[in-house]
Amino acid sequence: MYNIAIFAFVTIVLLLVSLASSTEGRRISPAPPCDFPAIYNFGDSNSDTGAISAAFWPTPSPYGTSYFGKPAGRNSDGRLVIDFIAEHLGLPYLSSYLDSIGTNFRHGANFATAGSTIIRQNESIFENGLSPFSLDIQTVQHYQFKTRTSELYHQGNLHVISLKIGIHIFSAKKKSFMKKLSRPQDLSKALYVFYIGQNDVAAGIRKLSFELQKAAVPEIISQFTTQIQTLYQRGARIFWIHNTGPIGCLPVATVKVQDPLPGYLDENGCVKSQNDIAIEFNKQLKDEIVKLRSERSEAILIYVDMYSAKYGLITNAKNQGFEDPFSICCGHHGIGYDVWCGNKGNVNGSEVFGGSCGNPSKVISWDGVHYSEAANRWIANRIINGSFSDPPISISKACQKA
Ligand SMILES: *[C@@H]1O[C@H](CO)[C@@H](O)[C@H](O)[C@H]1NC(C)=O
Ligand SMILES: *[C@@H]1O[C@H](CO)[C@@H](O)[C@H](O)[C@H]1NC(C)=O
Ligand SMILES: *[C@@H]1O[C@H](CO)[C@@H](O)[C@H](O)[C@H]1NC(C)=O
Repeated sequence: MYNIAIFAFVTIVLLLVSLASSTEGRRISPAPPCDFPAIYNFGDSNSDTGAISAAFWPTPSPYGTSYFGKPAGRNSDGRLVIDFIAEHLGLPYLSSYLDSIGTNFRHGANFATAGSTIIRQNESIFENGLSPFSLDIQTVQHYQFKTRTSELYHQGNLHVISLKIGIHIFSAKKKSFMKKLSRPQDLSKALYVFYIGQNDVAAGIRKLSFELQKAAVPEIISQFTTQIQTLYQRGARIFWIHNTGPIGCLPVATVKVQDPLPGYLDENGCVKSQNDIAIEFNKQLKDEIVKLRSERSEAILIYVDMYSAKYGLITNAKNQGFEDPFSICCGHHGIGYDVWCGNKGNVNGSEVFGGSCGNPSKVISWDGVHYSEAANRWIANRIINGSFSDPPISISKACQKA
């Protein structure tokens, strides 16, 4: 009698354990309202979670030091906004499409690469840190991802069906491989996130006069729209689009300024002409998104004002628990020298290493160009709840029409 009870108990426990371990992927919090099965992300270093590290060279130490404890393919000391978004939606961190080791694409993929632009650049690819994976290429990669996943998935399912009626030799290996694939039916329910444009603005600043930079914006926006339309035609429906940040507030821009003419810097110390181009880009981007909404009634397009979130942090740094918004945690930059984070170089006649400051959690800029994990968390907390979205919808409800 007693033995039967114990046997039943053990059986139930085993059953529960096997049920728990067979649930797909690694959901880490309760399902939010939209229950997005996957995220597909497109962008530049602001959301690269390992592409450039996989394709070319790994980010050096001390990148990743605050959260991952080692370089993790991200241009920060820890998590990026896209990581906080994934956490918030109860999904695992996104594997980079280009990463061939240890990846899991069940809950989406990341096509962002550091240095990406919307428009293909003529400059040699590594000059100025640019990437060959411009947005049109990222869209092509998504197409390959979609078609190859679909083929493999259907092949795998055919195996399962034929083996059910045959001898039971379906290998655990094949099963675990299947679990790492996206499900074709998830592609249209997924959240498509975009955060790109900063390198197009930066390339313009390097190469063109202010007037020519302004004149170049419509072409950049038009290319962006083409890629959104292409993804829509391939089944994407829910678009969460971050505009571009205040590039003129990046410390690498401000530390180079010596004796500025009146009006060169704005009242908060950012380079005004550079921010003006970002503002122009954002204005045209927003107009285009509004237009797309009226043409594509089945799509949901949310415009997220990343510029204002970041500018808000920079201008309120002290109130928000941060130090000087223009200080750089990792690396040394000044007039006539740049020693990038994780590299060695010469400053004022002596060799120095670009190491981490003591308190990255108090600094907004990790390496002069990219935000610290603490800043990324601050920004993510504000954009996730919809306070910078148009329409004002939180990310977990982004599947619902406003
Ligand atoms: C690249 O060069 C071509 C031909 O000179 C020019 O038409 C095009 O605008 C250039 N593109 C960029 C992004 O500079
Ligand atoms: C290099 O010298 C300049 C001018 O004296 C000084 O402002 C700067 O802080 C020095 N940089 C470093 C990293 O020591
Ligand atoms: C979003 O969160 C931020 C930070 O916690 C808060 O200040 C803001 O009021 C919230 N906005 C909305 C619309 O809930």
